[in-house]
Amino acid sequence: MNALILVGGYGTRLRPLTLSRPKPLIEFCNKPMLLHQVEALAKAGVRHVILAVSYLSDMLEEELKKEEEKLGIKISMSHEREPLGTAGPLALARHWLEESTEPFFVLNSDITCEYPFEEMINFHKKHGKEGTLVVTKVDEPSKYGVVVFDASTGKIENFVEKPAEFVSNKINAGMYIFNPSILKRILPKPMSIEKEVFPFMAKDGELYCFELKGYWMDIGQPKDFITGTCLYLNALKKNSSDELYKGPGNVGNVLVHSTAKIDDDVQIGPNVVIGPDVIVEKGACLSKCVIMKGTLIKSHSWINNSIVGWKSSVGKWVRMEGVCVLGEDVHIQDEIYLNGAKVLPHKSLAASIPEPNIVM
Ligand code: GDD
Ligand code: MG
Repeated sequence: MNALILVGGYGTRLRPLTLSRPKPLIEFCNKPMLLHQVEALAKAGVRHVILAVSYLSDMLEEELKKEEEKLGIKISMSHEREPLGTAGPLALARHWLEESTEPFFVLNSDITCEYPFEEMINFHKKHGKEGTLVVTKVDEPSKYGVVVFDASTGKIENFVEKPAEFVSNKINAGMYIFNPSILKRILPKPMSIEKEVFPFMAKDGELYCFELKGYWMDIGQPKDFITGTCLYLNALKKNSSDELYKGPGNVGNVLVHSTAKIDDDVQIGPNVVIGPDVIVEKGACLSKCVIMKGTLIKSHSWINNSIVGWKSSVGKWVRMEGVCVLGEDVHIQDEIYLNGAKVLPHKSLAASIPEPNIVM
């Protein structure tokens, strides 16, 4: 089976992290977002993964090509000259998708869940129509694609992308299976699958959905990235709890890379992810936060509800909270207070930011 992953877009909502790496390569729980999906696809029997890319694609190609051999699959890049939206990339990759008469997967690259790929295949075969999409329930549906369907059959009656008024709280989880016949509906130009394809497939009775079990999150913005991290760690605790950190000062679910060095006299957790080569000094207190590769957390600093980018340093007695995001190579001097600060790469900060702000 083939799969196409939508990895274009500028990832503006995840800045400043996406100023250094394309969104799909940002490490989510110590592994590039995209790799979580590619591994799960390979496990479900997919043999060819097509990455539909439009931005920083050299970096993507370099990192993902390494996985081909490891996973025993083929990974191809489909380069867009201009961003083609969420449908156009399917038409651009048509020569690959039409290689066989078998259905293929299409995924948004910025979602985390326990990927139900095998169930999707079975469900798709059973209803026999052109498309299957996965739905999940959320409290705040207005920032997603909303789906109205017959609960007994899963037949979709209506699809509305980011509705202004409440339609339903069941939303598009960003994972699909299509028969190659969907390509008749799509041209290789900027096109939205949510606005220009799904409503018509629904009208033709060709689109079915099934409900996801377990957690789901679009991790394309900092607050949701942190929430997604908590959900992932929670699932990890249930499924393979021996991967969680059990060292001194550990509180709740924590994931620590084997190359990180953590002082014995710290408090870490709950809901913390620590990347490779990170150093955490004595007296540091970390909760609900993500520390990326190569960062130094100096003694007695206190970090909550924040993301610290690669090769940065957080000074002694620093306090960070309120969804701060530090880009790559950011240096926070001692005794600074940051609340909701977004700091662009390669900055050094010597003054506190008490209210949410962007530091350029
Ligand atoms: N190749 C390519 N080209 N990919 C793109 C482009 C493009 O021009 N634009 C966006 N993408 C990719 C993004 O990288 C992401 O993986 C996916 O398409 C969806 O784009 P987002 O920008 O993340 O959309 P969204 O989060 O606002 O909404 C989408 O996802 C929701 C679930 O998370 C929609 O599919 C909603 O219906 C859905 O509920
Ligand atoms: Mg998204």
